[in-house]
Amino acid sequence: MEVTATHSVELLGGGELLRLEGGRTLSQLTVAYETYGTLNAARDNAVLVCHALTGSAHAAGHLEGHPGGAAGWWDPMIGSGKAFDTDRFFVVCPNILGSCYGTTGPVSTDPATGRPYGPSFPPVTVRDMVRVQHALLRRLGVRSLRTVTGGSLGGMQALEWAIMYPDMVRSLIPIATAASHSPWCIGLNEIARQAIMLDPAWHGGEYPPGAGPHAGLSLARQIAMISYRSDRSFNLRFARDRQQGNLPEVRCDPDNLFQVESYLHYQGMKLVARFDANTYIAITRAMDWHDIGYGRGTLEDVLSSVRSPALCVGITSDVLYPVHEQRALADGLPRGMYREIDSLHGHDAFLIEFEQLTAHVRAFLKTHGLDG
Ligand code: COA
Repeated sequence: MEVTATHSVELLGGGELLRLEGGRTLSQLTVAYETYGTLNAARDNAVLVCHALTGSAHAAGHLEGHPGGAAGWWDPMIGSGKAFDTDRFFVVCPNILGSCYGTTGPVSTDPATGRPYGPSFPPVTVRDMVRVQHALLRRLGVRSLRTVTGGSLGGMQALEWAIMYPDMVRSLIPIATAASHSPWCIGLNEIARQAIMLDPAWHGGEYPPGAGPHAGLSLARQIAMISYRSDRSFNLRFARDRQQGNLPEVRCDPDNLFQVESYLHYQGMKLVARFDANTYIAITRAMDWHDIGYGRGTLEDVLSSVRSPALCVGITSDVLYPVHEQRALADGLPRGMYREIDSLHGHDAFLIEFEQLTAHVRAFLKTHGLDG
């Protein structure tokens, strides 16, 4: 596994402002990012990897100073000889605007008050995230992108990239994503937000660093975790197993948790240890506002305006972004191609089924002569 480091860059200077789609501005903008491989002399071998809701810039390798530490979230996809081969490509993964992993977001200091923005962080959209990534790539000297890819929210960014910067995007690989967020997904995001806001420690988002609505954030994650998997995967993994078995004396003991309950509690607390509630709210709202047609025209017209070849990947058991949505995306894109990951893991399969994903990505890049 390669050793990597998360870098950080200030993108505004000399009184510059970033005007956000929602109308407010940022006067200070830090972007955290990682890169793997080398930018070639023509500056045209870059691949942009966009992360999902709770992801970070740490997509591959292990971080400097943490030998053997947590591998990047897409490590099996990025590296020497892998789908995004760092012997050929310069892979960039930025942390998105509004996140809590180094890029400006609700946990950052508001220059106007000297205190964390918290709930006063301005609303951001996927288009704002993409604009910031574009500024980062310009700063890094990237001229064009072989491809822009990501799953879920990452796929939404890939779609916006192809629309906002068509001259820079030679191809896109949106995975298990949406052209506009469905009412089904918005509904799930909203109950997750309510779980956070109904926690007595929420205090309107004005909680001190390290404190806050931990129970609510944990519950939000548990709701999301169910939607990231499938009934078949839960049946196979947990069945009806209890932690202390099913003997008559413990059968009706509520402390004798089902394994699935224990798993969800654990995943909830794991997110609480690494994430922030205001950030969760800001980013889920950006996902819900995502609609490539907004202000541009019908979804059909906007999709048909995309010139770059696209590989749209669906996951057979995904209940969040079902395969019919991915097929429709591929059908609507003039140069769209649909491929499927056959998996029982649900939406999370884009973080698990690396062999299938690698085969699809390799074939697509080769077909379009983008792998050289
Ligand atoms: N009780 C308590 N904990 C349990 C458990 C149980 N019955 N069964 C498993 N676990 C724990 C394991 O000990 C392990 O802990 P660790 O992470 O500290 O090592 C953890 O659960 C494993 O999680 P699991 O979901 O089984 O991993 P996986 O290999 O199936 O999936 C990921 C890998 C990265 C996809 C998954 O861990 C994950 O993070 N999923 C959410 C990712 C996400 O945000 N997806 C949405 C994108 S929009």
